[in-house]
Amino acid sequence: MWPLMAVLLLSSLCCGSAQLLFKNINSVTASSCDKVIAIPCYVSNIKAKEVKALDLNWKFGNTVILIFEGSVNKYSRAPKFESARVSTLALLQGNASLKLNKNEAKEGNYTCTVADLGREGNHTMELKYRRASWFPLSENILIIIFPFLTILFFWAQFGILIRKYKSNPMNKKIILLSTSGLLLTITVIVGAILFIPGNYSKKKSYGLIFFVTPSVILVFLQYHKFKPAIGRTLYAMIILTTIQALGFVLIMAGLYHSVTVCEPKYGSLLTAGLAIVTLVELFGLIYMKWLDPLIGFL
Ligand SMILES: *[C@@H]1O[C@H](CO)[C@@H](O)[C@H](O)[C@H]1NC(C)=O
Ligand SMILES: *[C@@H]1O[C@H](CO)[C@@H](O)[C@H](O)[C@H]1NC(C)=O
Ligand SMILES: *[C@@H]1O[C@H](CO)[C@@H](O)[C@H](O)[C@H]1NC(C)=O
Repeated sequence: MWPLMAVLLLSSLCCGSAQLLFKNINSVTASSCDKVIAIPCYVSNIKAKEVKALDLNWKFGNTVILIFEGSVNKYSRAPKFESARVSTLALLQGNASLKLNKNEAKEGNYTCTVADLGREGNHTMELKYRRASWFPLSENILIIIFPFLTILFFWAQFGILIRKYKSNPMNKKIILLSTSGLLLTITVIVGAILFIPGNYSKKKSYGLIFFVTPSVILVFLQYHKFKPAIGRTLYAMIILTTIQALGFVLIMAGLYHSVTVCEPKYGSLLTAGLAIVTLVELFGLIYMKWLDPLIGFL
């Protein structure tokens, strides 16, 4: 009598109702550059030999992502998680991992629930993203600093010209320079607001475009700043325009190679271009203040 009861007790403890055993993964860290995110879930003691005997569902917090019912071999996905997929073949081997496109895979807790021949279990893990800003830190700092310095040097030159034309403040040149300067400043500020915060995203790449392309305005303004240029000033104007145009070409090349790339490799083209544009504004300022025979000593 007693031995029989002991056997019955043991068998019910040991095998009949054995729990599903989940691999103990508590968190996954994905790169914000990945396009597809895999959220792992492994069961080590699946007994079913056919998917018919298996059920799987995935939840994000309390929201259902995907339900797979083996008995009818049917998937259903929530509309917010259209990219969700699992592999039923892998599931038979105990691999219940979920794949999601990055835009649908938010940070937070994901739970997989597996049912195998009437046994059920779940496991929860947290998805986190590695914080990688878009450009390396040093390039990022330069990309932010140069456009602001450029604007500063531009307005300093504008200040010198204003003093020159103070007798005629509505001078065409002043109106052109001030409206272009305002346009430039506003685009750069809008660009900075979009570009500076967060990880690589569409918003950030639009921000970069806004932030660095307005330099082209400066190339055209060289002529208007120095006109009527004669003698030494004419040469200075031509040299400044040419070098700044080259800087702008470098900026566009760097932008082209970076704007859609999560881990850009040619950020140095961009920073070199921005540095040239900024230096040309600085030389323009120095020339205007100390070397221009027409404007100097005002
Ligand atoms: C588990 O399945 C996923 C696809 O659903 C796959 O990407 C992953 O490599 C598999 N893991 C192993 C250890 O085979
Ligand atoms: C996920 O769960 C862990 C442990 O329960 C908790 O500490 C953490 O705050 C949760 N994360 C989110 C984003 O809810
Ligand atoms: C996971 O399983 C435990 C016990 O089996 C249950 O209390 C819990 O509600 C389940 N969690 C989810 C998210 O289904």
